[in-house]
This record gives sequence, structure tokens and C-alpha cells, in this order.
Amino acid sequence: MDASLVTEYASTLLRNKPWLAAALLAFGTFSVARMLYQTLSVLLQIFVLPGKNLQKFGARKGAWAVITGATDGIGKEFALQLARAGFNILLVARNKDLLSETAAEIESKYKVQTATHSIDFAKADETEYASFSSAVEGRDIGVLVNNVGKSHAMPVYFIDTPKDEVKDIVSINVNATLRVTYAVLPGMVQRKRGLILNIGSFAGSVASPMLATYSGTKAFLSTFSDALGEEVKKDNVIVEHVNTYFVVSKLSKIRKASVMIPNPAPFVRSVLSKIGLACGAGYSGRPNTSTPFWSHGLLDYLITFVGIPSLFISYTHGLHKSIRKRALKKAEREAKAQ
Ligand SMILES: NC(=O)c1ccc[n+]([C@@H]2O[C@H](COP(=O)([O-])OP(=O)(O)OC[C@H]3O[C@@H](n4cnc5c(N)ncnc54)[C@H](OP(=O)(O)O)[C@@H]3O)[C@@H](O)[C@H]2O)c1
Repeated sequence: MDASLVTEYASTLLRNKPWLAAALLAFGTFSVARMLYQTLSVLLQIFVLPGKNLQKFGARKGAWAVITGATDGIGKEFALQLARAGFNILLVARNKDLLSETAAEIESKYKVQTATHSIDFAKADETEYASFSSAVEGRDIGVLVNNVGKSHAMPVYFIDTPKDEVKDIVSINVNATLRVTYAVLPGMVQRKRGLILNIGSFAGSVASPMLATYSGTKAFLSTFSDALGEEVKKDNVIVEHVNTYFVVSKLSKIRKASVMIPNPAPFVRSVLSKIGLACGAGYSGRPNTSTPFWSHGLLDYLITFVGIPSLFISYTHGLHKSIRKRALKKAEREAKAQ
């Protein structure tokens, strides 16, 4: 149909039906006001407002923080910063030497107690989860950081992904979160106080082709956190799904920080200073998700504001194809050099 005909038809309709014009004007005003309010609230949360005080969860009152994947990267930084905030720290990872080293580092820096528990979440069976439950039993746990996570060795199409890689990613990202939370949550509910941080990824909110299994497990964390958060709100337990873009670490294989890719220290500082605020996730209305690091928050806001997920999915697909190409070339070079 001719555009001028459409315009003429619409203006005749609005002239003859003033109630329709008023309804459209009201709807438009509401939409613009809502957009402005949400945008302002995202900016205030990212740059101005403080989050909940960690003392609410038992800091400096003898409470413990349990961190999985606590000997490196983001998890180690959570352990250090929560110790500085005044929590005793239970470190959980596989390597016993690294666990002892990290515990000693924390005790040398802060006046808190530490304990360690070694477990391989890729292989843990009922006996090992029972032993983990014993390690947390009887402790006043104020904070749980479900941080441990595994991604693919390199971007790969799902049909070419080794079966063991798929199994390990699900065991670590999904089962470990469920089982560890299952062990810690009853005490929090009983004490009517607790904070559970589930460390997610942008790969969970923007589907990531060639990391399909990882992406799916991170999406699980978002939905799980929303459901569990609503269940335990009445018990004064906060469940927060922490959405993050890249952070410098062994897992990301990125060694140099930039505006978009922080080191673990500033990233964790942003998480712990914004507890209870959605920050960049505020525009999308996911009730228990927070995107606290400033540049990640702005990106999350932008992705939701633009609102064309297929655009970001196909961009990610292209990016992962080129990362795979480079990773394969590097592997080839390394094999030749041996
Ligand atoms: N870095 C990023 O760019 C990024 C982006 C988005 C999301 N995330 C998420 O952030 C979380 C932390 O990632 P990160 O980059 O800090 O990882 P990282 O630097 O590779 O650290 C991994 C930690 O987990 C432990 N770990 C690994 N496999 C384990 C297993 N099977 N059982 C028990 N512990 C295990 C490691 O110690 P041991 O080897 O001694 O066990 C280490 O303490 C993950 O959930 C990840 O998905 C990271």
C-alpha cells in the first residue's frame, strides 16, 4: 500500500475518533516515561547507589563465606575481598596445595579463620558431596559464592564437542551449584540470613553459538536464581545471579585488562559493593540478576535496549568462528614446535 495513503487513512481515523488519539498519546507518553525511568535507574545503580552492607550477612560477627573455585581468578578474589570484609573463609577447589597456599595468604593478610575442602566437581559422587556437607555443617555460613565454572577448551560446534567436555561442563556449572546450594541453604533459612551469589555469564543471556553447552548451563543459573530467590525471600536470604562479560583469568585465556575486560579485583569489588542492585540488568527486568561492573552493565543495558537478540547471537557466532580458527592455528604451531 502507498505510504501517503496509509498516512491519510491514519489521520482521518484519529480525527474521527479522538478517544483513539488520546489512548495512543497516553500509551506513547507512558512508554517514553518508562524508558527514561529505567535508564536513569540503571545509571544510578551502576554509578551512584551503594549496595547492601555485608554486615547484614554476618561480616565481623563470626560468619563464614564459602567460595567454590576459590584458588584462582574470580573465586580467589572473592575469598580475599570477603576476608577483608570480615568473613571467615571456607575455600573449595581441587588442588590441595593451592588451597593451603590461598588459605595461608588470607590468614597472613586478614584476621579471619580459614578452612579448605578439596573436591573435584566434575567427578564428585554421593560420598564426596556427603563429605562436603559435613564440612559446612555446624558453620554459620553468611555468604555462598557458587563461582566454580568450566567452559569449552575452544569454541566448537555442539555435534563436534567431546562427550566428556559436555558432561564436565554440566557437572560443574549445574550439578555443583545445585548440590552446594542444597548443602548450605538450610542453615541460612534457619538463621534467617544469607547471600548466595551464582556467577553467570553473558553467554547465558545472549545465546552463544559454538559454546552451546556452556551457554545453556549459564542460562540455567539465571532461571534457577530467579526461582530460588523468590522461594527464600521470606527467609531473608538473597539469591543473586551475577552476569558478567569477560574478566582476565585462566578460564577466559585473556591476560590483559581493558575497559571491557577488568581484572578480577575491580570486578569482584563491583559485585560486593552492589549487592541487591540490578545495575545493568535493571532494564531487562530479570528480578535476581545483577550486572554490576560498570562497562558490563552498560553493555547489558544496550543489548536489552536494542532488543534484537538475533543480531547479537549472529555477531557472537562470527566471533567464535574466528576464535576457533586462531586457536586451531596456535595448537598446530605448538604441535610443530614440540
Ligand atoms: N573469566 C571470564 O571471562 C568469565 C566470564 C564469564 C563468566 N565467568 C565465570 O566466572 C567463574 C570463575 O571463572 P574464572 O575465570 O575465575 O576461572 P579460573 O580462573 O579458571 O578459576 C577456576 C577455579 O575453579 C577451580 N576449579 C576448576 N575446576 C574445578 C573442579 N572440577 N572442581 C573444583 N574446583 C575446580 C580452580 O582450582 P583447581 O584447578 O585447583 O580446582 C580455580 O580455583 C566461572 O563460573 C566462569 O564461568 C568467567
